[in-house]
Amino acid sequence: MAEQPSKRIIPVTDQRSGSLGVPATALNAQALLPASGLLQDARGRVLRDLRISVTDRCNFRCSYCMPKDVFTKDYPYLPHSSLLTFEEITRIARQFVAHGVTKIRLTGGEPLLRKNLEILIEQLSALRTPDGNALDLTLTTNGSLLTRKAEALRAAGLKRLTVSLDGLDDAVFRAMNDVDFPVRDVLDGIEAAQTAGLGPIKVNMVVKRGTNDQQILPMARHFKGSGIVLRFIEYMDVGATNGWRMDDVLPSADVIRLLQQELPLIPLEASQPGETAQRWGYADASGQHDKAAGEIGVISSVTQAFCSDCNRARMSTEGQLYLCLFASQGYNLRDLVRGDHSDEEIASAIAHIWQGRKDRYSELRSAEGPAPAGSGKRRVEMSYIGG
Ligand code: GTP
Ligand code: 5AD
Ligand code: SF4
Ligand code: SF4
Repeated sequence: MAEQPSKRIIPVTDQRSGSLGVPATALNAQALLPASGLLQDARGRVLRDLRISVTDRCNFRCSYCMPKDVFTKDYPYLPHSSLLTFEEITRIARQFVAHGVTKIRLTGGEPLLRKNLEILIEQLSALRTPDGNALDLTLTTNGSLLTRKAEALRAAGLKRLTVSLDGLDDAVFRAMNDVDFPVRDVLDGIEAAQTAGLGPIKVNMVVKRGTNDQQILPMARHFKGSGIVLRFIEYMDVGATNGWRMDDVLPSADVIRLLQQELPLIPLEASQPGETAQRWGYADASGQHDKAAGEIGVISSVTQAFCSDCNRARMSTEGQLYLCLFASQGYNLRDLVRGDHSDEEIASAIAHIWQGRKDRYSELRSAEGPAPAGSGKRRVEMSYIGG
């Protein structure tokens, strides 16, 4: 969890999740921390990945993320005036890039619901790392609007994307998204993204035991050899509304065991430090990786926490900076960009905040077990902070 800094803080208010002010010392002219391209937290973890939520709304109601009975039409979604503008997002992102961020992922809710998102993508794709390289700019979408938008996203400078898809069977998929959305439209969206030249495309499937685990094999068969990387995600206890129970989690080891019975797999090396997924390649008859058949991944945040090299920062639609997916409080960067603060001061605030970071929720959950429902601080929702 983000810890309350002991230093004096600039008071801010946020009704949603409790917001921390930026440490005042970060803005002190004598203590400004300039960006050096390398920022380490209190556990030596380097900042590399920034996830930016561009809307807290979604047209799906997946029960593990935005259960229908909570996210009704009366739910207090953020008003438009609270949202960061594209210029504000890009200005903040530029400071993160100066600190060493090389990957930016746009998330939601459903990011394609944000009007004119292409304009933000154009702005972000123009950013360069201190070495002069373009960013790894990507997006997580439910795919429902992709047939319409894939071409424009590519033209704006998006390189690749990840589509969430929890099953191939139409009835199962309609039940998972809980708005009766047909699977065919998402599959068409994925195809449109491929045609537009977006790639590599990843497909994320959250596995809930007893709900969509019968879809594991059909999904693997479908995407094998397609050039698309399918990843199976353990259902997590994010937020406070999804009624998570350990019994609903199907451990990744079980997923691999199931796949191995029909589709032999061999473990692959991580492609990047701090990667969320463990990679497995389809094996050929001699037990070597069959590259044409491709690979799958498993993301095992419940049974095998990967906090020790977590390089991810998250920013909500209204400019709250979260240091962990399971945090209950963010740091208010919006007040900085809307106040009379220089880029150097914003960069310094980010540095101070990241340097104080100790969060490692999943590791602690593994060690201590999940906090019982209703205990402790209310955690932020995934639809607010992004995946
Ligand atoms: P790629 O660069 O495309 O491989 O992205 P990624 O591995 O970061 O994956 P992605 O953003 O698609 O995240 C996949 C899923 O992993 C998310 O939807 C979450 O369920 C989970 N996840 C991602 N980051 C974290 C994290 O920092 N902590 C935990 N506990 N889970 C995470
Ligand atoms: N557990 C695991 N992953 C989740 N996501 C959302 N809620 C959960 C959860 N409770 C992930 C899904 C979705 C992305 C936006 O976030 O992969 O595709
Ligand atoms: Fe929407 Fe994705 Fe959440 Fe489902 S998991 S409700 S598609 S944001
Ligand atoms: Fe990172 Fe928090 Fe996820 Fe651990 S639980 S990997 S610290 S975001």
